[in-house]
Amino acid sequence: MSISIDITRPLPGAAFGAKVRLAMSPATGRPDALPQALADNGGLLLIPGLNEIKRDPALLVRLSRLFGPEVEDYRHLPTGRRMVHETQPEIFLVTNTVPGSRPPPARPEPPLTADGKLPVQYPHRKGWHTDQSYRRPPPDISLFYAAVPVDRARGQTLFASGILAYEALPARLKAKVETLQGLHAQPGTGRGRNDALAGRTPRPFAAHESSQLQPVVRTHPVTGQCALYLCEYGQMDWFEGPFVGMQPGPHGDGAALLDELMVHYTRPEFVYVHEWTEGDVLVWDNRCLIHAATWYDAENDQRLMWRTTVRGNPGSIYAGERKSWIPQEAATA
Ligand SMILES: [Fe+2]
Repeated sequence: MSISIDITRPLPGAAFGAKVRLAMSPATGRPDALPQALADNGGLLLIPGLNEIKRDPALLVRLSRLFGPEVEDYRHLPTGRRMVHETQPEIFLVTNTVPGSRPPPARPEPPLTADGKLPVQYPHRKGWHTDQSYRRPPPDISLFYAAVPVDRARGQTLFASGILAYEALPARLKAKVETLQGLHAQPGTGRGRNDALAGRTPRPFAAHESSQLQPVVRTHPVTGQCALYLCEYGQMDWFEGPFVGMQPGPHGDGAALLDELMVHYTRPEFVYVHEWTEGDVLVWDNRCLIHAATWYDAENDQRLMWRTTVRGNPGSIYAGERKSWIPQEAATA
């Protein structure tokens, strides 16, 4: 698949990212034009106007393959087929409609900042994460297609740049996180901060569900840039973590450091707010960005988004590792 691109940068109101217009041009295009643009623009691309994906869902998968060798097949998820596109098993459905029926995140309290803006900064805004960080090796890139977005001013997706946040870290914090490791937990395994705060006992989990260590500072395998790599409430392990070698639990010194880092990471100058238009595709690099979904009115709004996940180049620290989330017996069968 050869592509020519026109790039506008940066994205409005953001210090990173780029808008890209595509032309399929087998004669002059290059298959690496898009991945190169992603690397050159801080890990975020907006490709508007791809409404043809609705008629040709395989186009989203073909685009995804430009970014890496392995596009996840979601057929084997424990949630089953109801979250997966009926003809393209590489497309995960993020929707409040049947049969996906996933509710939107809660509205921040208060819903707007003191100056009337959409809250983006932690902890006013919660839900910041990087996709599947509870897996080793973690995925590289996600693509998200707006099949049926909700009206603008609701249902946005927020992105924060781990590269900009890392560069701006005070020296004291940079030294603290240099070799620090975070313990990332799969949502739903009962290891989140709210589970710990409520005093629940986490259920025992199988080896392939276990929380996974990740460096707090990741070196990007393509650009060589350092980026903060962190999540918060639901996707860190708040029983044994959030950090190795620090006091665990929601009241420990690890929790205090995570709060301080997340407040810094999500400062408005490191954030881009995407208001969706039907036909938009966003491509983001999970190795150097975090993102968060925002509230919409699930009673009155219908939202249908399609996601793919690309893996295959996590960096040399993961070299030779087996996939942590595949049960051993399945891996050897
Ligand atoms: Fe996500």
